[in-house]
Amino acid sequence: MTLGVPTELSDQEPRVALVPDAVRRLRKLEAEVLIESGLGKEIGLPDADYEKAGAVISKDRREVLEKSDVLLRVRPPSVDDLEGVRADTLQIGCMDPFKSGDLIGEFAKRKLNAIAMELVPRITRAQKMDVLSSQANLAGYVAVVIAADQLDRIFPMMTTAAGTIAPARVFVLGAGVAGLQAIATAKRMGARVEAYDVRPEVAEQVKSVGGKFVEIDVGQTESTKDGYAKALTDEQIKKQQEAMASICSRSDVVITTANVFGGKAPRLVTAEMLDAMKPGSVVIDMAVESGGNVEGIEADKVISRKDVSLIGYSNLPARVPVHASQVYAANLVALIEEFWNQETKALELKPDDEILKSCLLTHQGEIVNERFKS
Ligand code: NAI
Repeated sequence: MTLGVPTELSDQEPRVALVPDAVRRLRKLEAEVLIESGLGKEIGLPDADYEKAGAVISKDRREVLEKSDVLLRVRPPSVDDLEGVRADTLQIGCMDPFKSGDLIGEFAKRKLNAIAMELVPRITRAQKMDVLSSQANLAGYVAVVIAADQLDRIFPMMTTAAGTIAPARVFVLGAGVAGLQAIATAKRMGARVEAYDVRPEVAEQVKSVGGKFVEIDVGQTESTKDGYAKALTDEQIKKQQEAMASICSRSDVVITTANVFGGKAPRLVTAEMLDAMKPGSVVIDMAVESGGNVEGIEADKVISRKDVSLIGYSNLPARVPVHASQVYAANLVALIEEFWNQETKALELKPDDEILKSCLLTHQGEIVNERFKS
C-alpha cells in the first residue's frame, strides 16, 4: 500500500503531513511512502532526509495523486486536486468539515474515502491521534510568546538595585488544551496568571499549571458527551461579562481561547471591556478563525484600539511549523498504525469502529458520518 504526501497548496501553510521520523515508522509497517519533492523544504527538511528515511521522492504531483492508496495532507484538498485520484483512495487530513460541505459531497461523488482528523473522538484510545490537542497545545504557547513580544513591559517580577518591577498580569479565558498551555507558559515566564472557563471542573487543572481559577457563578452550564462546552444563554453571558470586565481592566494581557465545537465562538470580550483596559495592554484572540471571542477582532491583523493591541492571528501552530508538523505527523501515523492490517500490509477501514464512526466522512461513495448525512 502506498501512502502519498503532496505538498500543501496554500502558501499560508508551512506545516507538512509527514516528517522523516514518521516515514520511518510507516516503513516499519512495510508501507510504501511517496513524497512530492520539496514537501519539507520550507521547514528545513530536504528531500534527501525523506529519502534516507525510506520514502520515494517524486517531482510529479500528478504521480503522487494517482499512485497513492492513501493521501496525507494538512489542509483540505481543492476539488482540482482530486482530479486523477483513483476511486477508493483514502484522504486523511484536517478537512475543516463544518465549513466543507461541498468538498464532502465531492468526496462521495468521486467514491473517495475521507477522514477528518478534527473529528477523532476525545477518548483515551484516540489520544495519540488527537490533532486538535497537539496543535492547540503549541498554539497556546505561541500566543503567549506573541503577547510577550507585543507588550511594552516584562512578564516576571524583578528586584534589582534599581527597584522592583511588578509581574505582568495575564488573564486566560477558556482553559481547554490551548488555554492550559497558555497559562503554563505565561507562568513559566513569570507572569501572574488568572484564568476562567465555563466548565468549573477545570479549576484543578488551572491550579496545577500555576494559574488562579476565577469563579464566576453563571448557574447551570452544560457539556456535550465529548466534554465540549455548550453555548451559554444570554442571561449567563451577561453575568459572565460583568465579572470578567474587572479582571480585564487589571490585566496586561488577555488571551481568549473559547470555542464551541463546530459552532461560532462565543463573544466574551466586549467593546466596553476593552475601553476599561489599560493603555499598552494586549489582547490575543485564539478563536478568531471561528468568529472570535473579542469584539472588533480581525483575522490576521493587529489593531490598535485606544492604545490596546487586538491581535487576531489565525493558524498559530503554523508559526512553529517544525514541531507542529512533528506532532501532527505522529497523530497521523498513530491512526494508520491503529487500522493497519499486518497480514495484508494495508490500512483497513472499519466504519463501525468507535474512532472511525466519529471521523470517517465518506466511504464507498456515501457520506457515512452522522453529523453530515443530509
Ligand atoms: P475548545 O477549543 O473547544 O474550547 C476551549 C475552552 O473554552 C474549553 O475549555 C471550553 O470549556 C471553553 N469555553 C467555551 N465556551 C466558553 C465560554 N462561553 N466562556 C468561557 N469558556 C468557554 O476546547 P478543547 O481545548 O478542544 O478541549 C475540549 C474538551 O476536551 C476539554 O474538556 C478537554 O479537557 C477535553 N479533552 C479530552 C481529551 C481526551 O480525553 N482524550 C483530549 C483533549 C481534550
